[in-house]
Amino acid sequence: MTEAATTAPQPDPSAASALPLATSLAEGGLAARFNTPEGVPAFAVRWQGAVHAYLNQCPHAGGPLDFEGQVLESSGRFLMCARHGAIFEPDTGKCVGGPCRGARLTPVAVHEKADGSVWPGAAG
Ligand code: FES
Repeated sequence: MTEAATTAPQPDPSAASALPLATSLAEGGLAARFNTPEGVPAFAVRWQGAVHAYLNQCPHAGGPLDFEGQVLESSGRFLMCARHGAIFEPDTGKCVGGPCRGARLTPVAVHEKADGSVWPGAAG
């Protein structure tokens, strides 16, 4: 019995401490805000079924886009900066209206697992 206890698989401490960025993201719902491994604020949002993530830095004045996690504008078609109203394509991050038209948000790699949880980095 003692031998079984010493040879039983042990949890990977790094895996045990890893947490998802979000346990789920609702279509059209609030963004999940998180920090990149470098400590830069970012957000992830679900749009048309897919999860998209960007640094939470508007190309116009550099401030955060969201207001308390709200980053999709009321129609749900665009991400909108809460500071001066720039709008962005959710799937490309391209600014298509407002003071930074033509600029882009900086994408952040995330991936979604089968249970709907969202994790940092590309799927591996
Ligand atoms: S800071 Fe985003 S539009 Fe000005």
